[in-house]
Amino acid sequence: MRIVIIGGSGHIGTYLVPMLVEGGHEVINVTRGQRDPYLPHAAWRQVQQIAADREAEDAAGTFGARIRDLEPEVVIDLICFTEDSSRQIVEALRGRISHFLHCGTIWAHGHSTRTPATEDQARQPFGDYGIQKWKIESALLSEARRGGFPATVLMPGHIVGPGYAPLNPAGHFTPTVFTQIARGEALCLPNLGQETVHHVHAADVAQAFYRAMARWSSSIGENFHTVSPAALSLRGYAEAMYDWFGKPPALTYLPWEDWRKTVTEQEAAATWDHIAHSPCASIEKARRLIGYAPRYSSLEAVQEAVSWLIDHSVVQN
Ligand SMILES: NC(=O)c1ccc[n+]([C@@H]2O[C@H](COP(=O)([O-])OP(=O)(O)OC[C@H]3O[C@@H](n4cnc5c(N)ncnc54)[C@H](OP(=O)(O)O)[C@@H]3O)[C@@H](O)[C@H]2O)c1
Repeated sequence: MRIVIIGGSGHIGTYLVPMLVEGGHEVINVTRGQRDPYLPHAAWRQVQQIAADREAEDAAGTFGARIRDLEPEVVIDLICFTEDSSRQIVEALRGRISHFLHCGTIWAHGHSTRTPATEDQARQPFGDYGIQKWKIESALLSEARRGGFPATVLMPGHIVGPGYAPLNPAGHFTPTVFTQIARGEALCLPNLGQETVHHVHAADVAQAFYRAMARWSSSIGENFHTVSPAALSLRGYAEAMYDWFGKPPALTYLPWEDWRKTVTEQEAAATWDHIAHSPCASIEKARRLIGYAPRYSSLEAVQEAVSWLIDHSVVQN
């Protein structure tokens, strides 16, 4: 099939684009051309690269037509962040494609209520990113269910892979937290460390897109959590990482208002965003309808990423 992927050189595309090429598909990747995938792969030589800035072309109202003119059968949209951007591409592609796969997020749930959360739970998203993603998801599913537009929405958790720092057990991205743990030094967690995070390996996100595309008759009009089999509490995550480095856990705890003063403003903002959501999502629907079978647990995904950080001297072991 002729597949256009928008934003295919990042976390997800690093795995998904080679998978699509190896599956015998013709792949066109639309990006600004500013970065390379995290891992090299011979398949990239067979990919047609189109340079375009979606934000600028959305503002000019031309991005949808650009994608339509590439004459895709399938479009995988990894970088849509506003309702307006989504509406533009849907209008341009209506009646022209056989499948449209949008990358959403578990942030579209808002805070956790009953866990593990299922896709059909009532949503209470907060923050501009989560609200916009929820609006895009709702609009796409409603378009699909009314019979007009063949959309599927995949909802990843915290994406992890070799080449970049994973969300750490303190709920932010500063990789020195892993160095502290590797050295057996104390790590302070907010509250009682019972709030949760839900990672997923980028290769498993790619797998979910691929399977949703292959099982289009079960996936059109549906949304799927795309996470590892189980979320982790910050405490459980930290203890497992001390154990992985062969060190006894050295955890301390502070109430949020005191804890936030022990880190930078940026770290506190990232941690707040993660613990306020405390995601814990079920993958049962994705298992059942598209045969999603993640290869990585949260810890396996993180440990592969941290091994890369050690090899590249970002984390000192
Ligand atoms: N990261 C997470 O933990 C996470 C969690 C849940 C959901 N998500 C969702 O995952 C999606 C992002 O996927 P990802 O993490 O694989 O992406 P990513 O690693 O951030 O890569 C972004 C890709 O889009 C291209 N790009 C960025 N800005 C562009 C623009 N203005 N015009 C054209 N191309 C542009 C980049 O290439 P150039 O820079 O060369 O243009 C690159 O190929 C989003 O929909 C996000 O909501 C992410």
